[in-house]
Amino acid sequence: MKIEVCTTNAKKIVCDTLIIGVWEETVLTRKIAEIHGEVLADHIAHVIHRQPDCGMYGKTINIYPVEAIGEKRIMLLGLGKPRELTVDKIRDVFAIAARKIRKLEPTTVSCILADLIPSQIEPEGMVKAIVEGIILGAYRFNYYKTTKVDAEIAKLFIIVQQENTAMLQKAAQRGYIISQSVNLARDLSNHPSRNMTPTKMAEHAVEIARQTGMKLVILSAADMAKQQMNAISAVAQGSDEPPCLIVLRYQGDTSCKEIVAFVGKGVTFDSGGISLKPSDKMGEMKGDMAGGAAVLGAMLAIGRLKPKLNVIAVVPCVENMPSGHALKPGDIIKTMCGKTVEIITTDAEGRLILADGITYARTAGATRIVDVATLTGACAVALGNAASGVISNDQVWCKQILQAAETAGEKMWELPHYPEYTEQIKSEIADLKNSGGRMAGAITAGMFLAQFADELPWVHIDIAGTADIDKARGCNGKGATGAGLRTLVQLAEDIGAE
Ligand code: BES
Ligand code: MN
Ligand code: ZN
Repeated sequence: MKIEVCTTNAKKIVCDTLIIGVWEETVLTRKIAEIHGEVLADHIAHVIHRQPDCGMYGKTINIYPVEAIGEKRIMLLGLGKPRELTVDKIRDVFAIAARKIRKLEPTTVSCILADLIPSQIEPEGMVKAIVEGIILGAYRFNYYKTTKVDAEIAKLFIIVQQENTAMLQKAAQRGYIISQSVNLARDLSNHPSRNMTPTKMAEHAVEIARQTGMKLVILSAADMAKQQMNAISAVAQGSDEPPCLIVLRYQGDTSCKEIVAFVGKGVTFDSGGISLKPSDKMGEMKGDMAGGAAVLGAMLAIGRLKPKLNVIAVVPCVENMPSGHALKPGDIIKTMCGKTVEIITTDAEGRLILADGITYARTAGATRIVDVATLTGACAVALGNAASGVISNDQVWCKQILQAAETAGEKMWELPHYPEYTEQIKSEIADLKNSGGRMAGAITAGMFLAQFADELPWVHIDIAGTADIDKARGCNGKGATGAGLRTLVQLAEDIGAE
Protein backbone atom coordinates (compact mmCIF):
# COMPACT_ATOMS: atom_id res chain seq x y z
CA MET A 1 0.00 0.00 0.00
CA LYS A 2 1.31 3.43 -0.97
CA ILE A 3 0.45 6.35 1.29
CA GLU A 4 0.46 10.00 0.42
CA VAL A 5 -0.41 13.02 2.52
CA CYS A 6 -1.62 15.86 0.34
CA THR A 7 -3.16 19.23 0.90
CA THR A 8 -6.67 20.36 0.00
CA ASN A 9 -5.18 23.03 -2.21
CA ALA A 10 -3.67 20.47 -4.55
CA LYS A 11 -5.69 19.40 -7.55
CA LYS A 12 -8.59 17.17 -6.64
CA ILE A 13 -7.67 13.54 -6.08
CA VAL A 14 -10.24 11.04 -7.23
CA CYS A 15 -10.31 7.60 -5.61
CA ASP A 16 -12.58 4.55 -5.67
CA THR A 17 -13.62 5.24 -2.11
CA LEU A 18 -13.59 8.51 -0.23
CA ILE A 19 -13.88 8.31 3.55
CA ILE A 20 -15.52 11.29 5.17
CA GLY A 21 -15.53 11.38 8.95
CA VAL A 22 -18.73 12.60 10.59
CA TRP A 23 -19.23 13.68 14.18
CA GLU A 24 -22.07 12.68 16.38
CA GLU A 25 -24.50 15.60 16.95
CA THR A 26 -22.65 18.18 14.86
CA VAL A 27 -22.98 18.38 11.13
CA LEU A 28 -20.10 19.94 9.28
CA THR A 29 -20.60 19.99 5.57
CA ARG A 30 -19.13 23.41 4.90
CA LYS A 31 -15.63 22.03 4.39
CA ILE A 32 -16.94 19.23 2.19
CA ALA A 33 -18.67 21.82 0.03
CA GLU A 34 -15.42 23.77 -0.21
CA ILE A 35 -13.44 20.74 -1.27
CA HIS A 36 -15.90 18.60 -3.16
CA GLY A 37 -18.53 21.05 -4.26
CA GLU A 38 -22.06 21.90 -3.19
CA VAL A 39 -23.67 18.88 -4.84
CA LEU A 40 -21.84 16.31 -2.73
CA ALA A 41 -22.12 18.44 0.40
CA ASP A 42 -25.90 18.68 -0.07
CA HIS A 43 -26.12 14.97 -0.66
CA ILE A 44 -24.23 14.21 2.55
CA ALA A 45 -26.28 16.74 4.51
CA HIS A 46 -29.37 14.90 3.27
CA VAL A 47 -28.07 11.50 4.42
CA ILE A 48 -27.11 12.88 7.80
CA HIS A 49 -30.58 14.41 8.11
CA ARG A 50 -32.26 11.11 7.25
CA GLN A 51 -29.93 9.03 9.38
CA PRO A 52 -28.94 11.21 12.34
CA ASP A 53 -27.01 8.39 14.08
CA CYS A 54 -24.46 8.09 11.28
CA GLY A 55 -21.91 9.96 13.39
CA MET A 56 -21.99 7.32 16.14
CA TYR A 57 -18.49 6.01 16.79
CA GLY A 58 -17.70 3.08 14.50
CA LYS A 59 -20.78 3.36 12.29
CA THR A 60 -20.26 3.36 8.53
CA ILE A 61 -22.64 4.25 5.72
CA ASN A 62 -21.82 3.88 2.05
CA ILE A 63 -23.38 6.32 -0.36
CA TYR A 64 -23.27 6.18 -4.11
CA PRO A 65 -23.65 9.65 -5.58
CA VAL A 66 -25.70 9.78 -8.75
CA GLU A 67 -23.95 12.88 -10.05
CA ALA A 68 -20.57 12.36 -11.62
CA ILE A 69 -18.21 13.48 -8.86
CA GLY A 70 -15.46 11.00 -9.66
CA GLU A 71 -15.56 8.72 -6.61
CA LYS A 72 -17.51 5.51 -6.99
CA ARG A 73 -18.42 5.53 -3.35
CA ILE A 74 -18.36 7.73 -0.28
CA MET A 75 -18.06 6.09 3.11
CA LEU A 76 -19.37 8.16 5.98
CA LEU A 77 -17.39 7.11 9.04
CA GLY A 78 -18.84 7.87 12.47
CA LEU A 79 -16.22 9.37 14.80
CA GLY A 80 -18.41 9.99 17.84
CA LYS A 81 -17.96 13.11 19.91
CA PRO A 82 -14.92 15.29 19.11
CA ARG A 83 -13.96 15.70 22.77
CA GLU A 84 -13.99 11.94 23.31
CA LEU A 85 -11.78 11.05 20.37
CA THR A 86 -8.36 9.56 21.16
CA VAL A 87 -5.50 8.30 19.03
CA ASP A 88 -6.45 4.72 19.94
CA LYS A 89 -10.04 5.30 18.86
CA ILE A 90 -8.86 6.75 15.56
CA ARG A 91 -6.69 3.69 14.90
CA ASP A 92 -9.59 1.38 15.70
CA VAL A 93 -12.24 3.24 13.72
CA PHE A 94 -10.12 3.39 10.56
CA ALA A 95 -9.44 -0.33 10.97
CA ILE A 96 -13.20 -0.90 11.09
CA ALA A 97 -13.50 1.17 7.91
CA ALA A 98 -10.68 -0.75 6.22
CA ARG A 99 -12.27 -4.12 7.03
CA LYS A 100 -15.48 -2.96 5.35
CA ILE A 101 -13.74 -1.33 2.40
CA ARG A 102 -11.75 -4.45 1.60
CA LYS A 103 -14.95 -6.29 0.78
CA LEU A 104 -15.83 -3.65 -1.84
CA GLU A 105 -12.90 -4.14 -4.20
CA PRO A 106 -11.30 -0.77 -3.82
CA THR A 107 -7.84 -0.07 -5.15
CA THR A 108 -7.54 3.52 -4.07
CA VAL A 109 -8.90 5.16 -0.93
CA SER A 110 -8.76 8.73 0.27
CA CYS A 111 -9.86 10.43 3.45
CA ILE A 112 -10.22 14.10 4.21
CA LEU A 113 -9.08 15.40 7.56
CA ALA A 114 -9.78 19.04 6.84
CA ASP A 115 -11.43 20.28 10.04
CA LEU A 116 -11.71 16.88 11.69
CA ILE A 117 -8.77 17.17 14.07
CA PRO A 118 -10.00 17.89 17.62
CA SER A 119 -7.81 20.14 19.74
CA GLN A 120 -6.63 17.38 22.11
CA ILE A 121 -5.06 15.43 19.24
CA GLU A 122 -1.90 16.37 17.40
CA PRO A 123 -2.19 16.21 13.60
CA GLU A 124 0.91 13.96 13.45
CA GLY A 125 -0.63 11.53 15.92
CA MET A 126 -3.88 11.50 14.00
CA VAL A 127 -2.22 10.82 10.64
CA LYS A 128 -0.08 8.04 12.13
CA ALA A 129 -3.14 6.42 13.74
CA ILE A 130 -5.14 6.58 10.50
CA VAL A 131 -2.36 4.87 8.57
CA GLU A 132 -1.98 2.21 11.27
CA GLY A 133 -5.73 1.66 11.38
CA ILE A 134 -6.06 1.25 7.63
CA ILE A 135 -3.05 -1.09 7.27
CA LEU A 136 -3.84 -3.16 10.38
CA GLY A 137 -7.53 -3.30 9.50
CA ALA A 138 -6.96 -4.27 5.86
CA TYR A 139 -4.74 -7.21 6.91
CA ARG A 140 -5.83 -10.63 5.70
CA PHE A 141 -4.04 -13.95 5.89
CA ASN A 142 -4.55 -15.16 2.32
CA TYR A 143 -1.54 -17.35 1.54
CA TYR A 144 -3.44 -20.61 1.38
CA LYS A 145 -6.63 -19.52 -0.42
CA THR A 146 -6.75 -20.83 -3.96
CA THR A 147 -10.07 -19.14 -4.69
CA LYS A 148 -10.56 -15.43 -5.18
CA VAL A 149 -9.60 -13.22 -2.24
CA ASP A 150 -10.44 -9.57 -1.50
CA ALA A 151 -8.64 -6.91 -3.50
CA GLU A 152 -5.81 -5.07 -1.81
CA ILE A 153 -6.00 -1.34 -1.10
CA ALA A 154 -3.22 -0.14 -3.38
CA LYS A 155 -3.12 3.50 -2.44
CA LEU A 156 -4.26 5.70 0.43
CA PHE A 157 -4.40 9.48 0.21
CA ILE A 158 -4.79 11.50 3.38
CA ILE A 159 -6.03 14.94 2.52
CA VAL A 160 -5.18 17.64 5.02
CA GLN A 161 -5.56 21.37 5.20
CA GLN A 162 -2.00 22.19 6.24
CA GLU A 163 0.23 23.71 3.59
CA ASN A 164 3.36 22.01 4.90
CA THR A 165 2.77 18.28 4.68
CA ALA A 166 6.37 17.16 5.33
CA MET A 167 5.86 16.47 9.08
CA LEU A 168 2.60 14.70 8.43
CA GLN A 169 4.13 12.62 5.65
CA LYS A 170 6.81 11.58 8.15
CA ALA A 171 4.15 10.61 10.70
CA ALA A 172 2.39 8.58 7.99
CA GLN A 173 5.68 6.85 7.19
CA ARG A 174 6.17 5.89 10.85
CA GLY A 175 2.66 4.46 11.00
CA TYR A 176 3.35 2.60 7.78
CA ILE A 177 6.60 1.04 9.02
CA ILE A 178 5.11 -0.03 12.35
CA SER A 179 1.90 -1.52 10.98
CA GLN A 180 3.70 -3.35 8.16
CA SER A 181 5.90 -4.92 10.84
CA VAL A 182 2.85 -5.90 12.87
CA ASN A 183 1.42 -7.56 9.77
CA LEU A 184 4.68 -9.47 9.27
CA ALA A 185 4.48 -10.71 12.88
CA ARG A 186 0.85 -11.71 12.30
CA ASP A 187 1.86 -13.67 9.20
CA LEU A 188 4.57 -15.55 11.06
CA SER A 189 2.06 -16.54 13.76
CA ASN A 190 -0.74 -17.41 11.38
CA HIS A 191 1.35 -19.72 9.18
CA PRO A 192 0.89 -23.38 10.06
CA SER A 193 3.79 -24.88 11.99
CA ARG A 194 4.84 -27.08 9.06
CA ASN A 195 5.66 -23.86 7.22
CA MET A 196 6.92 -21.84 10.18
CA THR A 197 9.57 -24.12 11.61
CA PRO A 198 12.54 -22.82 13.58
CA THR A 199 14.51 -22.93 10.32
CA LYS A 200 11.85 -20.79 8.60
CA MET A 201 11.93 -18.31 11.48
CA ALA A 202 15.67 -18.03 10.95
CA GLU A 203 15.12 -17.35 7.23
CA HIS A 204 12.85 -14.45 8.14
CA ALA A 205 15.53 -13.12 10.47
CA VAL A 206 18.02 -13.29 7.59
CA GLU A 207 15.62 -11.23 5.47
CA ILE A 208 15.17 -8.66 8.28
CA ALA A 209 18.94 -8.38 8.68
CA ARG A 210 19.34 -7.96 4.92
CA GLN A 211 16.72 -5.19 4.80
CA THR A 212 18.08 -3.27 7.77
CA GLY A 213 21.82 -4.00 7.80
CA MET A 214 21.61 -5.39 11.35
CA LYS A 215 24.10 -7.96 12.61
CA LEU A 216 22.65 -11.46 12.71
CA VAL A 217 23.91 -14.65 14.32
CA ILE A 218 21.98 -17.90 14.16
CA LEU A 219 23.07 -20.57 16.61
CA SER A 220 22.48 -24.15 15.51
CA ALA A 221 21.65 -27.09 17.79
CA ALA A 222 25.38 -27.90 17.93
CA ASP A 223 26.29 -24.28 18.79
CA MET A 224 23.73 -24.30 21.58
CA ALA A 225 24.98 -27.64 22.93
CA LYS A 226 28.52 -26.21 22.99
CA GLN A 227 27.27 -23.21 25.01
CA GLN A 228 25.44 -25.42 27.51
CA MET A 229 22.03 -24.10 26.50
CA ASN A 230 20.60 -27.34 27.78
CA ALA A 231 17.12 -26.02 28.50
CA ILE A 232 16.58 -25.11 24.83
CA SER A 233 18.16 -28.39 23.71
CA ALA A 234 15.96 -30.34 26.11
CA VAL A 235 12.72 -28.90 24.72
CA ALA A 236 13.94 -29.39 21.14
CA GLN A 237 15.09 -32.98 21.59
CA GLY A 238 11.67 -34.56 21.03
CA SER A 239 11.23 -33.02 17.60
CA ASP A 240 12.74 -33.82 14.21
CA GLU A 241 12.85 -30.09 13.48
CA PRO A 242 16.26 -28.67 14.37
CA PRO A 243 16.07 -25.76 16.85
CA CYS A 244 17.93 -22.47 16.48
CA LEU A 245 18.66 -19.31 18.41
CA ILE A 246 18.21 -16.08 16.47
CA VAL A 247 20.32 -13.15 17.63
CA LEU A 248 19.86 -9.78 15.94
CA ARG A 249 21.80 -6.70 16.99
CA TYR A 250 20.74 -3.13 16.31
CA GLN A 251 23.36 -0.52 17.08
CA GLY A 252 21.78 2.92 17.00
CA ASP A 253 23.97 4.52 19.66
CA THR A 254 27.59 3.35 19.64
CA SER A 255 28.52 5.98 22.26
CA CYS A 256 26.27 4.26 24.80
CA LYS A 257 27.03 1.09 26.76
CA GLU A 258 23.37 0.36 27.45
CA ILE A 259 21.92 -2.58 25.54
CA VAL A 260 18.23 -3.38 25.76
CA ALA A 261 17.42 -7.05 25.19
CA PHE A 262 14.19 -8.24 23.59
CA VAL A 263 13.73 -11.95 24.25
CA GLY A 264 10.85 -13.67 22.41
CA LYS A 265 9.40 -17.16 22.87
CA GLY A 266 9.68 -19.01 19.56
CA VAL A 267 7.89 -22.33 20.08
CA THR A 268 6.78 -23.02 16.51
CA PHE A 269 4.38 -25.70 17.72
CA ASP A 270 3.52 -26.61 21.28
CA SER A 271 1.97 -30.07 21.46
CA GLY A 272 2.83 -30.12 25.16
CA GLY A 273 5.48 -32.80 24.54
CA ILE A 274 5.12 -36.00 26.60
CA SER A 275 2.72 -34.02 28.80
CA LEU A 276 0.55 -33.90 25.69
CA LYS A 277 -2.13 -31.23 25.43
CA PRO A 278 -5.76 -32.19 24.76
CA SER A 279 -6.37 -32.27 21.00
CA ASP A 280 -9.21 -29.75 21.13
CA LYS A 281 -7.83 -26.45 19.77
CA MET A 282 -4.30 -27.83 19.77
CA GLY A 283 -3.91 -26.29 16.32
CA GLU A 284 -3.84 -22.87 17.93
CA MET A 285 -0.43 -23.78 19.30
CA LYS A 286 1.03 -23.00 15.85
CA GLY A 287 1.00 -19.47 17.23
CA ASP A 288 3.19 -20.25 20.24
CA MET A 289 6.03 -18.32 18.57
CA ALA A 290 4.04 -15.05 18.65
CA GLY A 291 6.43 -13.53 21.19
CA GLY A 292 9.35 -14.31 18.90
CA ALA A 293 7.39 -12.90 15.95
CA ALA A 294 6.69 -9.68 17.88
CA VAL A 295 10.40 -9.35 18.62
CA LEU A 296 11.43 -9.99 15.00
CA GLY A 297 8.79 -7.57 13.71
CA ALA A 298 9.86 -4.93 16.23
CA MET A 299 13.46 -5.29 15.05
CA LEU A 300 12.38 -4.74 11.44
CA ALA A 301 10.56 -1.55 12.46
CA ILE A 302 13.45 -0.36 14.63
CA GLY A 303 15.92 -1.03 11.83
CA ARG A 304 13.87 1.26 9.61
CA LEU A 305 12.96 3.96 12.13
CA LYS A 306 16.53 4.11 13.47
CA PRO A 307 16.02 5.35 17.06
CA LYS A 308 19.15 6.21 19.07
CA LEU A 309 19.74 3.14 21.26
CA ASN A 310 21.19 -0.37 21.16
CA VAL A 311 19.00 -3.45 21.05
CA ILE A 312 19.81 -7.13 21.05
CA ALA A 313 17.00 -9.48 20.03
CA VAL A 314 17.19 -13.09 21.22
CA VAL A 315 14.65 -15.57 19.89
CA PRO A 316 15.01 -19.24 20.83
CA CYS A 317 13.06 -21.31 18.28
CA VAL A 318 12.01 -24.89 18.94
CA GLU A 319 9.19 -27.31 18.29
CA ASN A 320 7.78 -29.05 21.40
CA MET A 321 6.90 -32.63 20.43
CA PRO A 322 6.49 -36.03 22.07
CA SER A 323 8.67 -38.85 20.77
CA GLY A 324 11.01 -41.63 21.84
CA HIS A 325 13.75 -39.11 22.45
CA ALA A 326 11.62 -36.39 24.04
CA LEU A 327 12.19 -34.73 27.38
CA LYS A 328 10.22 -36.46 30.15
CA PRO A 329 8.52 -35.34 33.34
CA GLY A 330 10.84 -36.08 36.25
CA ASP A 331 13.97 -35.22 34.25
CA ILE A 332 16.38 -32.64 35.62
CA ILE A 333 18.26 -30.28 33.33
CA LYS A 334 21.12 -27.91 33.99
CA THR A 335 20.36 -24.59 32.31
CA MET A 336 22.94 -22.36 30.63
CA CYS A 337 23.52 -20.33 33.80
CA GLY A 338 24.07 -23.43 35.89
CA LYS A 339 20.76 -23.50 37.75
CA THR A 340 19.06 -26.89 37.68
CA VAL A 341 15.38 -27.42 36.87
CA GLU A 342 13.17 -30.38 37.67
CA ILE A 343 10.69 -31.01 34.88
CA ILE A 344 7.20 -31.34 36.36
CA THR A 345 5.51 -31.03 32.99
CA THR A 346 7.01 -30.87 29.50
CA ASP A 347 4.18 -28.47 28.61
CA ALA A 348 5.84 -25.71 30.63
CA GLU A 349 8.45 -25.45 27.85
CA GLY A 350 8.31 -21.71 27.19
CA ARG A 351 9.98 -20.79 30.49
CA LEU A 352 12.72 -23.34 29.78
CA ILE A 353 13.78 -21.89 26.45
CA LEU A 354 13.37 -18.33 27.77
CA ALA A 355 15.60 -19.15 30.76
CA ASP A 356 18.49 -19.88 28.38
CA GLY A 357 17.45 -17.01 26.09
CA ILE A 358 17.66 -14.57 29.02
CA THR A 359 21.01 -16.01 30.14
CA TYR A 360 22.32 -15.66 26.60
CA ALA A 361 21.18 -12.00 26.51
CA ARG A 362 23.00 -11.36 29.81
CA THR A 363 26.25 -12.90 28.59
CA ALA A 364 25.92 -10.87 25.38
CA GLY A 365 26.01 -7.66 27.45
CA ALA A 366 22.34 -6.78 27.89
CA THR A 367 21.78 -4.16 30.61
CA ARG A 368 17.98 -4.32 30.64
CA ILE A 369 15.66 -7.09 29.51
CA VAL A 370 12.11 -7.41 28.28
CA ASP A 371 10.69 -10.76 27.23
CA VAL A 372 7.50 -11.41 25.29
CA ALA A 373 5.86 -14.82 25.38
CA THR A 374 2.63 -16.76 24.98
CA LEU A 375 3.59 -18.24 28.30
CA THR A 376 0.54 -19.35 30.28
CA GLY A 377 -3.09 -20.25 29.80
CA ALA A 378 -3.46 -18.89 33.33
CA CYS A 379 -2.70 -15.38 32.09
CA ALA A 380 -5.45 -15.69 29.48
CA VAL A 381 -7.82 -16.90 32.21
CA ALA A 382 -6.89 -13.96 34.45
CA LEU A 383 -6.97 -11.10 31.93
CA GLY A 384 -8.81 -12.48 28.89
CA ASN A 385 -7.86 -11.20 25.45
CA ALA A 386 -8.05 -7.50 26.31
CA ALA A 387 -4.78 -7.09 28.19
CA SER A 388 -1.38 -8.76 28.39
CA GLY A 389 0.05 -9.65 31.81
CA VAL A 390 3.24 -8.04 33.06
CA ILE A 391 5.69 -9.14 35.76
CA SER A 392 8.86 -7.28 36.64
CA ASN A 393 11.69 -7.07 39.15
CA ASP A 394 12.28 -3.33 38.62
CA GLN A 395 9.64 -0.65 39.08
CA VAL A 396 11.38 2.02 36.97
CA TRP A 397 11.86 -0.27 34.00
CA CYS A 398 8.33 -1.66 34.40
CA LYS A 399 6.81 1.82 34.48
CA GLN A 400 8.67 2.76 31.32
CA ILE A 401 7.29 -0.26 29.49
CA LEU A 402 3.74 0.24 30.76
CA GLN A 403 3.99 3.85 29.58
CA ALA A 404 5.21 2.75 26.13
CA ALA A 405 2.32 0.27 25.96
CA GLU A 406 -0.16 3.01 26.75
CA THR A 407 1.31 5.34 24.13
CA ALA A 408 1.28 2.56 21.55
CA GLY A 409 -2.31 1.61 22.37
CA GLU A 410 -1.66 -1.86 23.79
CA LYS A 411 -3.23 -2.79 27.12
CA MET A 412 -0.93 -4.32 29.72
CA TRP A 413 -1.59 -5.06 33.37
CA GLU A 414 1.02 -5.66 36.03
CA LEU A 415 0.65 -8.73 38.25
CA PRO A 416 2.16 -8.93 41.75
CA HIS A 417 5.40 -10.77 42.44
CA TYR A 418 5.41 -11.36 46.18
CA PRO A 419 8.15 -13.69 47.50
CA GLU A 420 5.44 -16.15 48.59
CA TYR A 421 4.96 -17.10 44.94
CA THR A 422 8.59 -18.15 44.57
CA GLU A 423 7.97 -20.90 47.17
CA GLN A 424 5.77 -22.65 44.60
CA ILE A 425 8.61 -23.17 42.15
CA LYS A 426 11.24 -24.49 44.57
CA SER A 427 12.15 -28.13 43.96
CA GLU A 428 13.14 -30.71 46.58
CA ILE A 429 15.78 -32.26 44.34
CA ALA A 430 16.81 -29.42 41.99
CA ASP A 431 17.10 -25.63 42.29
CA LEU A 432 13.76 -24.98 40.64
CA LYS A 433 10.82 -26.82 39.18
CA ASN A 434 9.22 -25.75 35.92
CA SER A 435 5.66 -25.63 37.20
CA GLY A 436 4.21 -24.10 40.32
CA GLY A 437 0.84 -25.79 39.89
CA ARG A 438 -2.52 -24.31 38.99
CA MET A 439 -2.62 -21.48 41.50
CA ALA A 440 -1.32 -18.11 40.22
CA GLY A 441 0.08 -19.86 37.14
CA ALA A 442 0.88 -16.66 35.24
CA ILE A 443 2.75 -15.24 38.22
CA THR A 444 4.79 -18.32 39.10
CA ALA A 445 5.82 -18.65 35.44
CA GLY A 446 7.04 -15.05 35.59
CA MET A 447 8.84 -15.68 38.89
CA PHE A 448 10.61 -18.63 37.27
CA LEU A 449 12.00 -16.31 34.57
CA ALA A 450 12.99 -13.76 37.22
CA GLN A 451 15.49 -16.31 38.59
CA PHE A 452 17.40 -16.05 35.30
CA ALA A 453 17.22 -12.28 34.90
CA ASP A 454 18.82 -12.16 38.35
CA GLU A 455 19.92 -8.58 39.18
CA LEU A 456 19.21 -7.03 35.76
CA PRO A 457 16.09 -4.88 35.35
CA TRP A 458 13.65 -7.22 33.64
CA VAL A 459 10.03 -7.13 32.47
CA HIS A 460 8.06 -10.13 31.27
CA ILE A 461 5.03 -9.67 29.01
CA ASP A 462 2.66 -12.67 28.84
CA ILE A 463 0.68 -12.43 25.59
CA ALA A 464 -1.03 -15.84 25.83
CA GLY A 465 -4.45 -14.15 25.90
CA THR A 466 -3.77 -11.31 23.47
CA ALA A 467 -1.63 -12.85 20.71
CA ASP A 468 -4.62 -14.36 19.00
CA ILE A 469 -8.31 -13.42 19.01
CA ASP A 470 -11.28 -15.35 17.67
CA LYS A 471 -13.37 -12.33 16.66
CA ALA A 472 -12.27 -9.06 15.04
CA ARG A 473 -12.03 -6.12 17.44
CA GLY A 474 -10.59 -2.65 16.91
CA CYS A 475 -7.43 -2.75 14.85
CA ASN A 476 -7.17 -6.54 15.14
CA GLY A 477 -8.90 -8.97 12.84
CA LYS A 478 -9.57 -12.61 13.73
CA GLY A 479 -6.34 -14.54 14.23
CA ALA A 480 -2.89 -13.33 15.19
CA THR A 481 -2.68 -9.75 16.47
CA GLY A 482 1.06 -9.05 16.68
CA ALA A 483 0.57 -8.18 20.36
CA GLY A 484 3.55 -6.60 22.09
CA LEU A 485 5.26 -5.38 18.93
CA ARG A 486 4.01 -1.79 18.99
CA THR A 487 5.01 -1.51 22.65
CA LEU A 488 8.56 -2.69 21.91
CA VAL A 489 8.92 -0.19 19.06
CA GLN A 490 7.48 2.64 21.16
CA LEU A 491 9.84 1.71 24.00
CA ALA A 492 12.81 1.89 21.62
CA GLU A 493 11.65 5.27 20.32
CA ASP A 494 11.10 6.56 23.89
CA ILE A 495 14.59 5.46 24.96
CA GLY A 496 16.07 6.84 21.74
CA ALA A 497 14.52 10.24 22.46
CA GLU A 498 15.85 10.44 26.06
N1 BES B 1 1.96 -22.15 25.10
C1 BES B 1 1.34 -22.50 26.33
C2 BES B 1 0.51 -21.36 26.91
C3 BES B 1 -0.70 -20.95 26.13
C4 BES B 1 -1.94 -21.50 26.41
C5 BES B 1 -0.61 -19.97 25.15
C6 BES B 1 -3.06 -21.10 25.70
C7 BES B 1 -1.71 -19.58 24.45
C8 BES B 1 -2.94 -20.12 24.71
C9 BES B 1 2.40 -22.89 27.37
O1 BES B 1 3.53 -23.48 26.85
C10 BES B 1 1.77 -23.86 28.28
O2 BES B 1 1.45 -24.93 27.85
N2 BES B 1 1.61 -23.48 29.54
C11 BES B 1 1.03 -24.32 30.51
C12 BES B 1 1.85 -24.23 31.77
C13 BES B 1 1.50 -25.24 32.81
C14 BES B 1 1.71 -26.64 32.28
C15 BES B 1 2.36 -25.01 34.03
C16 BES B 1 -0.41 -23.84 30.75
O3 BES B 1 -0.65 -22.63 30.69
O4 BES B 1 -1.26 -24.69 30.95
MN1 MN C 1 3.31 -25.59 26.66
ZN1 ZN D 1 4.00 -23.01 24.93
